[in-house]
Amino acid sequence: MRRVFASRHPDWSLRTAASAAEAVQLLEEEAADVVVTDLALGGVDGVELLGVVLERWPGTLRIVFTGHGTGPEVVRAAAVAHQVVPKGTETCALFGAIEGALERSDLIVDRAMRGWVLACHELPSGPSLWPQLERALQEPKTTAADLAALIERDPAVTARVLQLASSAYFNVSRRPSSVTQATQWIGVNNLRGLVLSVELARLFSRVPTTLDVERLAMNGFRVGSLAMAMLPDGPDAQRALMGGILHDLGLLVRGMRCPEALLADMDTSAQTGTPLQHVERTMRGFTHAEAGAALLGLWGIDERVVSIVRDHHQLPRGSTEHLTDAGAVYLADLLIAEADEGSPNPRLDVDASWLGVEDQMPRWRRLAAPPAEEVRQERAQLQAAAR
Ligand SMILES: [Fe+2]
Ligand SMILES: [Fe+2]
Repeated sequence: MRRVFASRHPDWSLRTAASAAEAVQLLEEEAADVVVTDLALGGVDGVELLGVVLERWPGTLRIVFTGHGTGPEVVRAAAVAHQVVPKGTETCALFGAIEGALERSDLIVDRAMRGWVLACHELPSGPSLWPQLERALQEPKTTAADLAALIERDPAVTARVLQLASSAYFNVSRRPSSVTQATQWIGVNNLRGLVLSVELARLFSRVPTTLDVERLAMNGFRVGSLAMAMLPDGPDAQRALMGGILHDLGLLVRGMRCPEALLADMDTSAQTGTPLQHVERTMRGFTHAEAGAALLGLWGIDERVVSIVRDHHQLPRGSTEHLTDAGAVYLADLLIAEADEGSPNPRLDVDASWLGVEDQMPRWRRLAAPPAEEVRQERAQLQAAAR
């Protein structure tokens, strides 16, 4: 382990401790960027150790490296760790987790920002059902019944899948008779988005925040679904879906970390008509987009998705030959906001023509509107085509 470490990162220094007490002593001598611990730790539980680290050195990245399966211990560990890496996978997985979390978040946001996000006590670990669903979806032999079995393990997701499949959104006159049937009606792509947004709402509903978590999650789902519909089927569309769902995650992070500051910035934005991200930049030195990207970097989410989230308020530069995933999320966010406000946003048309997609705007505006009869039909047709 020490050898691998030295060869991969000659510039890092590694200190090891045989017990939790010794680890704390080492940290007292000199703080660390990362602490990695097992769960079973000679007398003291690794979770307890990380609790101490969280309390005393909140800016330290906390990783659990454990052979203790996927039971309740891991759920406990996830409450205090930023990442849980299973033992038995090679040492590489551990390095990958550390490197990913450190470097990605370093690349994307500065160290001060990372420290700010890490210091949040209640910050949840990443979604749990969603990685399993991703794995299942990548497996070509996966059937709707397999997906349903996965979903049924989670009552909140099950409820939402059934509710959505029974809703006018899918223009069906019948009710689904099983989760499998509901899964088929909703379609794989929508299912992905739905699971992610339900998990997101749940992660943040456990923590005190002044924001309407449910509403934010729903807004993310709408932006993600629209961005996906704006692109041809494929990896870009999938990234646009995820990026859209997660785009305003940073508002939740800010809402938990210092709700007063966020509310003050929102007030200023509303009173002066200045976009929130500009107020944030002036008042705090960073934006909710950067705060969200920093957390996603720590969760080890696809780098490309992280940068979509970071840049969701920036008109994408460069090639205008085709709309990118980041461009789709940028436009979808504005389109959904315009639809909710009910008055046209002239800037949208300027941006759309800059991106070379002005001829598509009427269709996208229809899709952005809250489901009216016409849109419902178009969605039902898309749905039928996808099935
Ligand atoms: Fe935003
Ligand atoms: Fe937004």
